[in-house]
Amino acid sequence: MIFRVRDKRLHRQLFGLTFENPVGLAAGFDKDAILFNELSSFGFGFIEIGTVTPVAQAGNPKPRLFRLPKDQSLINRMGFNNQGVESAVKRLKNRKTKLIIGGNIGKNKLTPNHNAIQDYIICFETLFDHVDYFVVNVSSPNTPGLRELQEKEPLTKLLNTLQDINSKKENRKPILLKIAPDLSNSELDDIIDIISDTKLDGLVACNTTIDRSDLATSNIELDLIGNGGLSGKALKIRSTEVIKYVHQKSNGKFPIIGVGGIHSAEDAIEKLEAGASLIQIYTGFVYEGPSIVKKINKGILKKL
Ligand SMILES: Cc1cc2nc3c(=O)[nH]c(=O)nc-3n(C[C@H](O)[C@H](O)[C@H](O)COP(=O)(O)O)c2cc1C
Repeated sequence: MIFRVRDKRLHRQLFGLTFENPVGLAAGFDKDAILFNELSSFGFGFIEIGTVTPVAQAGNPKPRLFRLPKDQSLINRMGFNNQGVESAVKRLKNRKTKLIIGGNIGKNKLTPNHNAIQDYIICFETLFDHVDYFVVNVSSPNTPGLRELQEKEPLTKLLNTLQDINSKKENRKPILLKIAPDLSNSELDDIIDIISDTKLDGLVACNTTIDRSDLATSNIELDLIGNGGLSGKALKIRSTEVIKYVHQKSNGKFPIIGVGGIHSAEDAIEKLEAGASLIQIYTGFVYEGPSIVKKINKGILKKL
């Protein structure tokens, strides 16, 4: 009652699903599908669980998550810590909310890239009956070599394999691809072609960045923190750039979920105006608190 904004003008129809509003919780917050029932009370239009991998893994040693308050940003090198896909399914079976749930899938750290497809297949098949859409994550900077799967050949093979399995199902599920903000324009052109060729349902842009330019946080502090993916306000401009580029270059052929540095209604509207159909938040939820969801939805309504 406190956080939800109910208004038909916020509804969005995409990939055959009806979203109550366009504001979602990004992957990595409820990695193990433990909190989605409770989180649904905060007024989200959808929640993405994961990234899950076939087998449970501990992730990187702690500390692995750092605040950059001067930049209203975070650096994380969690490394896909999760209890494994079967464990997530156990809890998803106990779904008490009608909210749309996405499943973000990845590969185990110990699985070499030439066997990665198998990991994605296991996650896809195991989650299939328990989520409403899928996101193929090949863009985390914290699993060594993972981002190499964004290259044309391995990515086309991976997505074609999943689509083959998908098309044999009675009710296929939407599959989206999540990309890094560190891709060049020519790599983004490849991504647009691959989405077309593999008939994917859409794109999630973006994951965290390995770029450290233009930060208020000092180099000494950054060195102390070490490697990881940067999220939050410092990612905002680049993420909007990627969304705008892909939306324009593809003539808006597929929906984009815009994510990266949304800390206010204005930030969310910027992403929607750049070409995103839905948006997601993570770091903004951490810094601003749960009322951010309502503020964004009210801001979108005000702009109509
Ligand atoms: C601590 C943390 C863990 C994350 N884990 C995942 C993950 O498991 N899978 C994924 O696709 N993205 C993950 N992300 C990336 C977010 O989903 C999002 O793409 C990114 O943080 C940019 O959005 P933001 O600026 O609103 O945080 C993670 C982000 C953070 C801060």
